[in-house]
Amino acid sequence: MSEPIRITKAPTLKKKPKDSELGFGIIFTDHMFVANFQEEKGWYDPRVEPYAPIPLDPAAAVLHYAQAVFDGLKAFRGVDGKLRLFRPQKHVERLNNSARRMCIPPLDPELALQSIVTVVQTDGEWVPRMLGTSLYIRPTIIASEAFLGVRPARSYVYFVILSPVGAYYPEGMAPVKIRVEERYVRAVEGGLGGAKTGANYAASLMAGEEAKHQGFTQVLWLDGVHRRYIDEVGTMNIMVKIGDEVITPPLTGTVLPGVTRDSVLTLLRDWGLRASERQVGIDEVMAAHRAGTLTEVWGTGTAAVISPVGELAYKGETMVINGGKIGPLTQRLYDAIVGIQYGQAPDPHGWTLEV
Ligand code: COI
Repeated sequence: MSEPIRITKAPTLKKKPKDSELGFGIIFTDHMFVANFQEEKGWYDPRVEPYAPIPLDPAAAVLHYAQAVFDGLKAFRGVDGKLRLFRPQKHVERLNNSARRMCIPPLDPELALQSIVTVVQTDGEWVPRMLGTSLYIRPTIIASEAFLGVRPARSYVYFVILSPVGAYYPEGMAPVKIRVEERYVRAVEGGLGGAKTGANYAASLMAGEEAKHQGFTQVLWLDGVHRRYIDEVGTMNIMVKIGDEVITPPLTGTVLPGVTRDSVLTLLRDWGLRASERQVGIDEVMAAHRAGTLTEVWGTGTAAVISPVGELAYKGETMVINGGKIGPLTQRLYDAIVGIQYGQAPDPHGWTLEV
């Protein structure tokens, strides 16, 4: 798809919300990026157009068999007024990896990056100003072929929509209460867990709802085979600090290769700290808690960046972590990543892209 991106501006612009009133993923901007795929043409007609519903045949494969992938990244308005994307190339790479897993034709990475840059530039005024806010970018590919047989579709729509956001959890960057999930599983090796595809999120809903009814923010997923090793927390990667070691589960196909996960591991190693990607059992976490060596637990993800875990409930036992307060390393990591995102701190790894 080497066609230039066509731009059609919206005739009227929407009223923008106040930065202080932003939630997560509720409001959408004036424009979106769209491109189409047909087997005989490849990806074609890249364009920015007014934000609007997408026409879909009721037989479209995505509506029946969930053949779809998405990603999520953010644009920030820096303290210097410049707009920056955080690790967009890494998100494009992940979108294409998710696509391959779902038998969706990958995008030309250059065009995918250009699609994001162009739509963010078009709606640049929508990037909020207040620290802690950003423009959430949602690239998505859906199978659009009207066909009810089960096989990969022959036509797709790629779109990128934008949403000005505040904190992901209404609590903001505050310790959350998590219930260790014993009944449901999110993913198994060989399954879809490593792909960012809607089916994983659909699979997580019931456990999340039950946890909420019981007063928890989310669940901690255990592996689907032994129901023992920790996997992810809600929609985020999980990290635990036991003694001087920070541990996060390895990328064996069940957990999403988080961009924030990768950034945090890089920072920890830059700082000379011990960061291990290895399996860790919930029994090991509990033993460490009893021994007083489980000092911090946090989730990492694009939406919330770092989410401290204040309490973990498992088999009738409640582990209160760091007195239910944000731990020092959790805070340092949050500050370091946010500092780079808002252009307040140097970016030695070249993670940001000015747009
Ligand atoms: C994240 O960015 O942490 C997520 O995966 C949440 C998103 C699905 C809303």
